[in-house]
Amino acid sequence: MPITGKTKITGLFGWPVEHTLSPYMQNSAFVHCGLDYCYIPFPVRPNRLESAIEAIRSLSLSGVNLTIPHKEAAMPFLDEADEEALAIGAVNTITNTNGILNGHNTDGRGFATAIQEQGIILEGCRALIIGAGGASRAIGYYLSRSAKSLHIYNRTYEKAVALASFLSRISGNTDVVQDLSSLSEYDIIINATSLGLKEDDPLPLDVNLLLPFQAVCDLIYRKTPLLMKAEQKGCRTTDGLAMLLWQGAYAFELWTGMHPPIEVMRTALLSIVK
Ligand code: ATR
Repeated sequence: MPITGKTKITGLFGWPVEHTLSPYMQNSAFVHCGLDYCYIPFPVRPNRLESAIEAIRSLSLSGVNLTIPHKEAAMPFLDEADEEALAIGAVNTITNTNGILNGHNTDGRGFATAIQEQGIILEGCRALIIGAGGASRAIGYYLSRSAKSLHIYNRTYEKAVALASFLSRISGNTDVVQDLSSLSEYDIIINATSLGLKEDDPLPLDVNLLLPFQAVCDLIYRKTPLLMKAEQKGCRTTDGLAMLLWQGAYAFELWTGMHPPIEVMRTALLSIVK
């Protein structure tokens, strides 16, 4: 669809943004729905975030996504934030309604939908999150409300303690674990560390301890060695691409008020990662 004088502009603020997959997914969705919208990646340096957010108002952008390293830093520059964004302390989606900027966080909901789509039931599950960064926080917020128990493991123990104590305030079922020697007690195991991004990364856990009833999720956007090995052990798996899809679908819905064309977005994503 050609850009017109009426085209509504959305996009992504990140640093760097060269590797983003979101423009394929969002622009395919806009075209499919016949919407006069477009999605543009904006490389926003960390020290320019405040002026970039002000530019959402000045340039009348309809909304943006935020990615590394802006999700937490953006909070003070917004007019409003929804309950999830406030609780997590991070936003991945901003809407602009007549100059009022509202922050949302669709990462946790995106994750939950992505794994439920695989037939994995969150309600009453026993979950383990490996990692205690921003992604773990967003997912943990969601999981702690439906899981029976949620354990956090992290290389830096203090960060696991801090995340578990934050999540305990939402639901009292969260605790830290000091090692990963016993995995049999979990229904769902999530790798939310960056291990698996690089070819020669070690696995985040001992795959020999995995059991066929378990679901293993990785937030990295492709089938990592962890997921391949988990499948060999008979586990169900979900990769980060499904989460990217669903967090983007919820952002699309926030900007356009329309139902996201999930299969169109999924096909667009798969066509560039395959
Ligand atoms: P994100 O926003 O994607 O969660 P992050 O906030 O930088 O990113 O968090 C990255 C997570 O990966 C952290 O839990 C980090 O562990 P530390 O808190 O100990 O730094 C984890 N991580 C990164 N590299 C790792 C490695 N080589 N081994 C184990 N954990 C690692």
